[in-house]
Amino acid sequence: MNANEIRQKFLKFQEKHGHKIIPPAPLVLENDPTTLFTGSGMQPLLPYLLGQPHPEGTRLTDSQPSMRLQDIEDVGDPRHTTVFEMLGNWSLGDYFKKEQIENFFEFLTQEVGLDPQKIYVTCFIGNEKYGIPKDTEAAEIWQEVFEKAGVEAQIVEIGSAKQGDERGINPGERIFFYDDKENWWSRGGGIETTPLGDPCGPDSEVFYDFGEDKQDLEKYGKSHPASDGARFMEIGNQVFMQYKRNQDGTFSELEKKNVDFGGGLERITAASIDSCDVFKISLLKPIVEKLEAISHKDYDNNTDEMRIIADHLRGAYLLAAQGLVPSNKAQGYALRRLVRRAILKALDLGIGQEFLGEILPVVEENYQDLSDDILPNRKNVLDILTKEEIAFRKTLNKGVKELKKLGADQELTGAELFKLQDTYGFPLELSVEEAYKRNIKLSKNYQAEFEEALAEQRERSKTASKGMFKGGLADTGDQTVKYHTACHLLLAALQKVIDPTISQKGSNLTPERLRFDFNVDHKLTPEELAEVERLVNDWIAADLPVVFAEYEKDYAFDELHAHGSFRDRYPDRVTVYAVGFGTPEDAPDTIEQIISMEICGGPHVERTGQLGRFKITKEESSSAGVRRIKAVLESN
Ligand code: ALA
Repeated sequence: MNANEIRQKFLKFQEKHGHKIIPPAPLVLENDPTTLFTGSGMQPLLPYLLGQPHPEGTRLTDSQPSMRLQDIEDVGDPRHTTVFEMLGNWSLGDYFKKEQIENFFEFLTQEVGLDPQKIYVTCFIGNEKYGIPKDTEAAEIWQEVFEKAGVEAQIVEIGSAKQGDERGINPGERIFFYDDKENWWSRGGGIETTPLGDPCGPDSEVFYDFGEDKQDLEKYGKSHPASDGARFMEIGNQVFMQYKRNQDGTFSELEKKNVDFGGGLERITAASIDSCDVFKISLLKPIVEKLEAISHKDYDNNTDEMRIIADHLRGAYLLAAQGLVPSNKAQGYALRRLVRRAILKALDLGIGQEFLGEILPVVEENYQDLSDDILPNRKNVLDILTKEEIAFRKTLNKGVKELKKLGADQELTGAELFKLQDTYGFPLELSVEEAYKRNIKLSKNYQAEFEEALAEQRERSKTASKGMFKGGLADTGDQTVKYHTACHLLLAALQKVIDPTISQKGSNLTPERLRFDFNVDHKLTPEELAEVERLVNDWIAADLPVVFAEYEKDYAFDELHAHGSFRDRYPDRVTVYAVGFGTPEDAPDTIEQIISMEICGGPHVERTGQLGRFKITKEESSSAGVRRIKAVLESN
C-alpha cells in the first residue's frame, strides 16, 4: 500500500467511527511563538485539549504535516525525517482508553493489514513522586485485544529502557511497562519537564517488529520495543490526556479526559511494506530513484547522502508550497538551511550542477493527493527554490574564488583552510575537493594544522568565556545559574514589552535573587511589570531549550544580531547563548521574532522549564536613565 492510500484509509476509517475530518493546520502556526513549526497533530488543538469546545464536536481526525527541525542531525538513518505527516484522531472528553486501543488495533490489522504477531505495545509504569498510578487499565485492554486476535500477550515490567537491553524479550511477552522517559507524553517530554499549564498524561506506544535478525546485539544489546536499533519501530502513540500540569508544578486530573492519538504516516506505510527503511515508501522512493539517475550512483552505497537530500528537499517543497520563502529569519531560515544542506550533500554525490529543477517535480507528483488548501503556493515552489539554488551556488563559487586567491602562488595550509570554513562557511571537505580539482597544492600536514587552528580557537574562546563569566556571577551554584538564565529572559521580555533598544547596564546574582540594571526613560508601570513577568513565565512554561555556539564576534553582532553590551571589550571569538532554537543560527535575525540571543560566557540551565516561577519583587531607580529590577524564582 502506498502512503496516499493509507492516509485516505485512515481518515475514512475514523470518519466511520464518528470523527469529523478537520483540515490540518499550516506548518507555521500563527499565534504560537513557542515553536518555529507545527511538530505534532495535537499542537494546533491545544485550547480544545484544555477544555474549550471544538466547533466540529468531540471526535476529530486529520493528517497533519509536521516538522521537527530538532531531528535534523538524525536524518540519514533509516527512519528519521525532518518533515512527516502525523495521522491523528482525538476524543475531547468522549471515548477513552478502550475504544482508542481497539480502534487503532483494528486500523492496523484490518485496514493496513499488519500481522498482529508483529505488533508490540508499551504502557506507563507510574510515578510515585507525583502520585501518578501505573496504567494497568491500558495494559489489560491490550491483553484482551491481542488475545481476541489469537496472540499471546504477557505483560512485563521493564522500567527504564536501558535495563531492558540486558533482558530483551521472552517468548509470549507483548506488553511492556516503561517509565516516564518512554511512556509519558507532554510537549516537554518526561514528567519533570512537562510545561506548566499543559495537558499531558500516560501514553501507550505501538511498535512494529521487523524481525530478530534486525537486532544489533553488539551495538544496542538485546532488543525490546523501546530500545535503540532497527528491530522495533514506533508507528503510533496514544496519549491518554488525563492530567494538566498546574502552575505550582503538581498534576491534577482534567475534568474532561481526552485521547490524543498520533501515528507517523511514513512509518505506518513502511511497516505495511515490511521495510524498516522509510525511504523505500511511495513519498520518498521516487526522489531517491531520481537522485540515483542524476548522480549515476546506487542508493545502497550512498544511503546517508541520498536520505538527507531526499528528506531535505521534500521538507523544502512542503514549506515553500505553504508559502514560505527562504530568508535569514525564523522559518525562512530553516527553509534556506534545508536547501543548502541538500545542495552540499549533493556535491558529495558528485552533483555539482543545478538539480532542484529535476527533483522538485518528483516531490510534487507524490503530493497530488493533498489539496491546494494545504499547499496554496505549490505552483511557485520550483521558481522560488531554483532561485535559491542559483544564489547559493554563487556563494559557493565565491568561496572557491577565495580559495584560488589564497592558493595561487603558495601551498594551502590547514590554518588557511580553517579560515575559509570559519569566515566564509566553506566546509573543509569542499575546500580539499576544490583544491584537488584545481591543482592547488595542500600542505602535507593540512589536517593536523586544521585541527590545531580549531583547538587554538576553542582554547581562546574558553579563556575569553571565563573572563566574561567572572563579570556577572559571584558563584556558580545551581540556583545562581538559574538566575543567570532568568536574566536573559528578563532582558528579552523588557525589550519586547517596553523598548527593543533596552540593554543591560549591570547585574548581580546570588542564590536567592537576581538584580538587573537596564536603560529606560521612565519608571515602569504596574501593567508593564506584570506583562514582563507574564512573558518570562510563559517562556519558562514552554520549557524552551537553551543552546550555545561559538562565532566570530563580528558575525555574532552583524549577522546574528546577538545582544551584547560591551562589543569593544569582547574577544574576537564569542559564545552566543540562544533560547528557543536549535542553534543560535537557527534563530531569526530580528529582535521582534527571537526570544533571546546574547553574547555570554554562561553557564545556563539547559531548558527554561528548570527555572520555576519568576516573580519581580522590586523596581527602582539605579542612576540617571537606569532602572533596577529585583526578582526571585519560586520553586515549583
Ligand atoms: N501528540 C502525540 C505525539 O506527538 C501523539 O506523539
